[in-house]
Amino acid sequence: MTDHMPDGLSAAGRDLRAYTDHLRPKHPVVRNTNGEWVLLRHADVLAAALDQEHFSSQVSHFLQIPNGLDGQEHTLYRTIVEHYLSQGAVEPFVPVFKKIASQLAASLPRGEVVDAVNDIGAVFAVRAQCAWLGWPTELEPRLLDWMKDNHAATRSGNRSWMAEVAGQFDDIIRSVIQPRRSAGGIAPDDLTTNLCRQKVNGRLLTEAELVSILRNWTGGDLGSIALCVGVLIAHLAKHPALVARIREGSDTEVEAIINEILRLDNPFVSNRRITTCPVEIAGQTIPKGEKVKLNWTSANRDEAVFDNNCFNPEAHAASNLLYGAGKHTCPGQLLATWELRIALKSILKTVQSIRFAPGETPEREVAPVGGYRRVPILIT
Ligand code: HEM
Repeated sequence: MTDHMPDGLSAAGRDLRAYTDHLRPKHPVVRNTNGEWVLLRHADVLAAALDQEHFSSQVSHFLQIPNGLDGQEHTLYRTIVEHYLSQGAVEPFVPVFKKIASQLAASLPRGEVVDAVNDIGAVFAVRAQCAWLGWPTELEPRLLDWMKDNHAATRSGNRSWMAEVAGQFDDIIRSVIQPRRSAGGIAPDDLTTNLCRQKVNGRLLTEAELVSILRNWTGGDLGSIALCVGVLIAHLAKHPALVARIREGSDTEVEAIINEILRLDNPFVSNRRITTCPVEIAGQTIPKGEKVKLNWTSANRDEAVFDNNCFNPEAHAASNLLYGAGKHTCPGQLLATWELRIALKSILKTVQSIRFAPGETPEREVAPVGGYRRVPILIT
């Protein structure tokens, strides 16, 4: 976010969480340098997420399935996507994710500085996702390089670089789906092949639709999981009492703790909408056809909803917007939750405690990316 305050300040190069904390009390709605209206308060973000009549999701010229669709078209594709992310579809992969996480944890160098974002989060996210989708392990280094380029391009705000990096990702996806689409009955039996055989309105999904769906599951998710792992590990290094609660907690308890840590420091920053008519928010009239950003990171720290932002998983669960709200609420929540819980538990099995590497401090990401860029820890 490169937001301009009414007084001309910009978020470029700043810690987005700290900056929106600073803005929110006096400026519930700000306009950024791209001319987008950014909603910072919980009530406004939630209201916009629930209001499909005044806020459309058709914000991009690119095909975005299902996130860029509205109404019945959204429901049609959303039903397909939910099928692949349902409990029955995700849970068979739990043992696979556990194996990947424990192998990764065992392979981390002892007595050396390890970066929780890039050495743990990104590697786990890429490996888990390749296993889930049936993508070849040879793609892993390419995906890891792509994640770094993607973050750098996003951070730069350079639109042509961002478009180029997005195009590289589409090429990776095409390299996986094209052989499956032409192989007929002899394609590997995996999720990507099943998706290639998926029908919508009695016809197969087109290549453009497949690329869009897979881009949505992978491009954004890989980065989110890596950033979430960084935020979780940094939080545990600062609050060691939580380590025992996670080690001993049930799946439900651990999920609640994870969601509360990520509420306080939500690296999945925002999503966009476009107004279908003039709307008034916090005394500000936003004309029809304007882009509006729902800033989840800021909304999730709104003091009016989360009493002084103390850590309280039970009390804050119902208002937590980590996975959004309304019709576009994240269908990947179950998969993300399993992955994060497994990654965290596996790391905690291999260490007595999590602590920052001596002499090193974690580096925050800067707008428009959230969370940490680097979380140096020592594995002993
Ligand atoms: C910790 C990780 C994740 C976070 C914090 C997260 C968060 C979100 C949020 C806030 C939305 C709402 C977007 C909106 O209202 O415009 C969303 C939508 C979505 N997420 Fe996630 N997500 C995560 C992981 C995943 C994963 C693992 C997948 C699938 C592999 C996934 C797939 C999607 C899809 C397809 C949508 C669009 C849904 C629609 O438009 O109906 N997400 N996510």
